This record gives sequence, structure tokens and C-alpha cells, in this order.
Amino acid sequence: MAGLMKFTLLFCLSIVRMSALNIFPEKFKLAERSKSVTLTCRTDKDNIKWRLDDSIQPISETEFEKLNGRDLTVINLQEDLTGNYTCWSDTGLEDYTYLLLDKSKEVTAFNINCTAETFSCSQKIKCAWTSDEFTAFRLRNTRDDGDWVSQSVDGDFFLPHSTNSYSEESERLLITGEAVSTCCYMKTDYSFYLRDVVKPADPGISICSIENEGSDEQIIELEVKPPSTWPQPHSFFPLKHEIEYEIRHNGELKTEEREEGSKIKVKGSITKLRVRCRDLLLLSQWSEWSKWKNVN
Ligand SMILES: *[C@@H]1O[C@H](CO)[C@@H](O)[C@H](O)[C@H]1NC(C)=O
Ligand SMILES: *[C@@H]1O[C@H](CO)[C@@H](O)[C@H](O)[C@H]1NC(C)=O
Repeated sequence: MAGLMKFTLLFCLSIVRMSALNIFPEKFKLAERSKSVTLTCRTDKDNIKWRLDDSIQPISETEFEKLNGRDLTVINLQEDLTGNYTCWSDTGLEDYTYLLLDKSKEVTAFNINCTAETFSCSQKIKCAWTSDEFTAFRLRNTRDDGDWVSQSVDGDFFLPHSTNSYSEESERLLITGEAVSTCCYMKTDYSFYLRDVVKPADPGISICSIENEGSDEQIIELEVKPPSTWPQPHSFFPLKHEIEYEIRHNGELKTEEREEGSKIKVKGSITKLRVRCRDLLLLSQWSEWSKWKNVN
């Protein structure tokens, strides 16, 4: 019976230990692999004991852990010495620090990808960042001294910025990322010009008129509605369009680029068309295509 209880207890403890960090610990301390690091218990009590995670046994002095008053020094930090260090007096919990192994120099592949729907600061920059090794992530716009931003429910980060869309962008954005797992931490920077990541949302289209309907002389006049997130006045932030259409008699798809503004004319007998857009002057990325519009 006692054996079973002991087994159950150990089993539960190991589950707690392995459960991933899904948020950033409020208080954490970092050190690189093989380095030493000293944790200090912020208290005015003497005679304190340290514990690691849910272990009931207080930490005793070993080759890797040295105790000195309110300080605990961890020597030769490796994954197994990371975790939530708590310090206790005889009246209870006094302080805690989560010790993480800083892997910023060890980890190499981390892709933060950002896009923005406009140059305007009325829209946030959308970034994606994932890694198999880490379980919680946060980003901040360091250039504009922004706050840390966590992932939204669908996994993207939305970062505010103060880029002035009326003037030439002179300073790159600097996005700083931090990630943690149960044992480890990493930090990385990603720097870019907003103009290189702008990708407008997809435009809308409506057909205004069709002349000579059904003949080869057919002329369709359509109106392209700029994405709702595109800044106004639209005459000041012009878009360039690409139109794709299907030719009725052979089903062939053709594309054409147009710069004439939001009213576009298409000649010939076609069955369906769609449009995408990009910034005319700064040559942003293309938006996604609008939905196909059927022409009867
Ligand atoms: C660490 O321990 C303290 C004290 O029990 C607790 O308040 C805190 O949430 C713990 N942190 C993590 C990340 O488990
Ligand atoms: C980010 O972009 C890089 C290269 O452009 C790509 O390899 C990577 O898969 C992208 N990552 C995400 C999270 O979209």
C-alpha cells in the first residue's frame, strides 16, 4: 500500500514537472548552459529553505547547489536544474524565481514572419512565430518601445506600431521575440521595413455595366472596392490591380495589370473574373485574389 502511494505520488510529481509552461513566469532568471547563477530570496527572515518545483524535500548543499544565507547558487546549469525555485521560512512561502536555461545562442532556426495590411498605424502588424521546442511566445515592437504581446487564440500576434504612412519610412521596425519552455528560454530579434511586409487585404468587386453582352465586343465595367482596412483617402493611397479572367470560348485564363484606379474595363467575352491589389507607389506584396465573380 505504502509502495503504491509512493509510486502514485512520484508519478503525479513527474506529471507536474513535465507539464509545459504555457505562459511566461512572472519572475524568472536566466543563465546560459554550464554557467553559475545565484538566486536571492527577497525576505527579511533568516533561516530559509529552498525547494525546486513541487519537491517536498528542501534543497541541500551539493556539488551543483551552494547555499549561503538568502542566496542559492546553482553551478553548471543544465536542463535538470531549471524550474520554479521557492524559498520558505518557518512561517511559509517567502519568494520564488523561475530559473531558465538561456538557449538564445544555441537555437538557430526561428522564423518570425510578419505582414501588415496597410502602412497606416491604424492597423496592427500581424506576426507568426512557432517552434517545436518552446511552448509560450511573446513579441514586442522594440523600435516603438511597445509592450509585450501574446498570441491571439488563432496563434497570431498583433503588434501596434507608430509608422507614419504619410512620409518615407526611414527606420526599420525591430521586433523582439522571447520564448520559453519548461526548462528553457530564447530571445531573438527580427528587423524589417514595413513597406517590405505590407500585403493588402483582398479587394471586393462589383460589375457596374455590361455593353454588347455576349458578343466578342463585350465590354464589362467593374468597380474594385479597396480593402476595408486600406487607408483613406483612397486617392492619396492608390492601388494597382491585377485582373484575371476566363475567356468564354476556350476556357483560357488571362491576367492583366491595371493602374487606372478603381473603375476597370475588360473587353471580350468572358465567363468569370477576379482581382487582386497592391500599393501602386511603394509596390507592396500582392493581396490574395478576390472571390471569382461570374459574368453571365
Ligand atoms: C512558482 O511558484 C510560485 C509559488 O508557489 C507560484 O506562485 C508561481 O505561479 C509558480 N510559477 C510557475 C511558473 O509555476
Ligand atoms: C516564415 O517564412 C519563412 C521563409 O520566408 C518560411 O520558411 C517559414 O516557414 C515561415 N514561417 C511561418 C511561421 O510562416
